Amino acid sequence: MTTPERFEEHVLGTYGRFPLTLVEGMGTRVTDDAGRGYLDFCMGIAVCSLGHCHPRMVAAIREQAGKLIHVSNLYYTDSQGLLAEEMNLHHIGLPGKNFFSNSGAEANDGLIKSARRYGHLKTQADGKPRFEVVTFQQSFHGRTLGSMAATGQAKIQQGFDPMLPGFRYLPFNDIAALENAVRDETVGFLLEPVQGEGGIHVASAEFLRALDALRKKHDLLLMFDEVQAGFGRCGEAMAWRAIAPEIEPDGISWAKGMGGGVPIGAFWLSDRAVDEKGTQLSSLMGPGSHGSTYGAIRWSAPQHWRF
Ligand SMILES: Cc1ncc(COP(=O)(O)O)c(C=O)c1O
Repeated sequence: MTTPERFEEHVLGTYGRFPLTLVEGMGTRVTDDAGRGYLDFCMGIAVCSLGHCHPRMVAAIREQAGKLIHVSNLYYTDSQGLLAEEMNLHHIGLPGKNFFSNSGAEANDGLIKSARRYGHLKTQADGKPRFEVVTFQQSFHGRTLGSMAATGQAKIQQGFDPMLPGFRYLPFNDIAALENAVRDETVGFLLEPVQGEGGIHVASAEFLRALDALRKKHDLLLMFDEVQAGFGRCGEAMAWRAIAPEIEPDGISWAKGMGGGVPIGAFWLSDRAVDEKGTQLSSLMGPGSHGSTYGAIRWSAPQHWRF
């Protein structure tokens, strides 16, 4: 049986694949099972930001695998604490807290859950929780039930209805359309500063600033999905910093280039005070609010990260 035949027989057909079986990679090149070399312009789906099998990254993974492959989040690990510190000090530059996940969709689900928590604190006029997250047309936030519902593309949602309620999709980069964007139940905005999957659409600085102003006026959350555009892909550590660097978001999600090939994602919540008692936004996700079995050891050990 050839490898494509084996896939046909045993792997769920959710992807259309190119007729190539890849066996090795190094730097910018990959090799197929017939020994032919290719320049890889894709690097996963925007994942291998350090190229294939960078020796220092491989060494970091080997070292950690030889010491401790897994512990749960019921314990402390040096690597997770160092990575969170690295994220805050060198990549985000704002006080906040990180939660580590395995993928971008999960990271976005974490942001959506956090927004709903916030909506319980900042209720509607009648005391009911606010819950609606406004997202944008042509956006892509992932394939879980939550992140798919947040995604403003009908083709992604087709055949999986009913969608999780609580999302509305506005035209991207359209400041005029923001006029009536906020309803009583609206709790925040989630957007990619540079849309990727729905076509390459860069948010204008004016658009991001208009959202920031609305967020401040109505006490909403501004959340950036940096899963594809973050981690240096737009020239800055974070894509929004390349557009409107002064904005201080409330939440951010990552994956893809963050791990360079190791399945890792994260979401981040700001430490900013959200009420007169000084309650930090990040504190709304306390013990028992969220979890992930594989979220504890993070192999992208910070000391191997900055090249
Ligand atoms: C902007 C954005 N958000 C979220 C995701 C979902 O990430 P994952 O496939 O790791 O769940 C993607 C994946 O393409 C993406 O481009």
